[in-house]
Amino acid sequence: MSDWWRHGIVYQVYPRSFQDTNGDGVGDLPGITDRLPYLAQLGVDAVWISPIYLSPMADFGYDVADYTDVHELFGTLDDADRLIETAHDLGLKVILDYVVNHSSDQHPWFQESRSSRDNPKRDWYFWKDPGPDGGPPTNWVSRFGGGSAWEFDEPTGQYYLHTYLAEQPDLNWGNEDLRNAMLDVLRFWMDRGVDGFRVDVAYRAKVAPQWRDNPPNPEWKPGMDPYEKLQETYTKNLPDAHVVGRMLRDVVDEYDDRVLIGEVTLPVDRLTAFYGEDANEYHLPFNFNLIHSEWTAEAVQQHVDAYERHVPESGWPNYVLGNHDQHRLAARVGPGQARVGYMLLLTLRGTPTLYYGDELGMLDGRIPPGMIQDPWELKTPDIGLGRDPARTPMQWSPALHAGFCPPDAEPWLPVGPKEDVVNVEVQRDQPASMLSLTKRLIRLRRKHPALHAGSYRSFDAPDGVFAYARSASTDDADRFVVVLNFTGETRTWSLAEGVHGKIKVSTRYGRQDEAVSGIVPLRPDEGVLICVDRSA
Ligand code: NOJ
Ligand code: CA
Repeated sequence: MSDWWRHGIVYQVYPRSFQDTNGDGVGDLPGITDRLPYLAQLGVDAVWISPIYLSPMADFGYDVADYTDVHELFGTLDDADRLIETAHDLGLKVILDYVVNHSSDQHPWFQESRSSRDNPKRDWYFWKDPGPDGGPPTNWVSRFGGGSAWEFDEPTGQYYLHTYLAEQPDLNWGNEDLRNAMLDVLRFWMDRGVDGFRVDVAYRAKVAPQWRDNPPNPEWKPGMDPYEKLQETYTKNLPDAHVVGRMLRDVVDEYDDRVLIGEVTLPVDRLTAFYGEDANEYHLPFNFNLIHSEWTAEAVQQHVDAYERHVPESGWPNYVLGNHDQHRLAARVGPGQARVGYMLLLTLRGTPTLYYGDELGMLDGRIPPGMIQDPWELKTPDIGLGRDPARTPMQWSPALHAGFCPPDAEPWLPVGPKEDVVNVEVQRDQPASMLSLTKRLIRLRRKHPALHAGSYRSFDAPDGVFAYARSASTDDADRFVVVLNFTGETRTWSLAEGVHGKIKVSTRYGRQDEAVSGIVPLRPDEGVLICVDRSA
């Protein structure tokens, strides 16, 4: 059994925004295929592509109308086959998104389900009679906008559950036929050569929920996401989610070398339960805690140390710093700290996931009011929840539209800021660019077992500094120390007495192969990766 997903690096592509080839302003599968050599040169191992399936696009593909067909905006099934084949020829794996919790209301399954109370597919979704007051059966609210999570269906006199938009009805995993149909979707794609799945909101999958009101959240204040008014006692992280995780894993294990990644937005102790009691759920329950952490050396170290303690021995850690639901890394922490973040991500113990464009330091896009696309922003305007800013076109070159689409096309979202310098073509030739830094870090990570498979140990460090060692377990000759300055001021770090080393990479460039011992000065926003000399 190979463990490519342990030692490899995952790269997320948001398909609408990577490369448009036919001039409709929306990225497509042929565009991704054309750009696969870039990913191979970058040195990543797998590309995860957000949903490409048939969809009315109420939530940009996270509302699936057919799990086994490709949306015509993105291309055809043949295009998907060609993408998979080209990726494999280049030594890249392909991971698809699997939307487990809900389908589109336009899915034929739901159309049948809503057609009558006694339709055989009625029970594929959650239908309930009105509550005693004639209103929704519970007080549950929708993730997008905080309105009721129940939609009344006049003709059949019942409500259906939708954790997200009304256009995204929740699937009932308690129904055997639904379950089998959904599990066959995994087989369909694995038979076509797909190497794994990222399971959307894996911690929300439901088999037999209790229909009880969620309690109010005493910490909610005006200005916060209205959805957070309630605690989610009966709607997320139910034992059901683990039942479904095990079902998916059983099917994934019917095939060799596939990976199951779960989207699990939970604190560390509950997150790590998604490896499964017998390592029989997710290979990688996504760890978003670095995204949600305050960006200080102390807070980040606390997260990493706590996570390291919680990941079971049979499990393997992973880290995520950006995705299509979050503000861009460089926008959250600033361009200097984004580089520190990338050194962190690419030197920690555990599989890193990179979000397209973050390797260039892409910033949040500025979306004029008339161009807002994200249904979440449209439902809860102006409180900073909108996801369009992180979904702007990949910046390939200084050309018009950053080379994302032909010059006479109009990209579906405007190109982000600083496209003249934040783009692949310009940064490729600059040794000090974020792209060159990313490539150097990836090259070293691939080359040294200490960095892709070794142990992790953190040190006590001065304020604002996070420092740790990575060593190959079998041979201490392969040993690195990573020292990250999370502040905009100078700092110093002391290597233990007698320890000598060489700086292999600095996030601020210009110190390659500098010999170090004793006190190591750090510039503002500087991280250094030191290769420790064994003979010291
Ligand atoms: C999580 C996805 O990442 C997000 O983009 C989507 O809107 C929700 N799940 C609903 O599918
Ligand atoms: Ca296109």
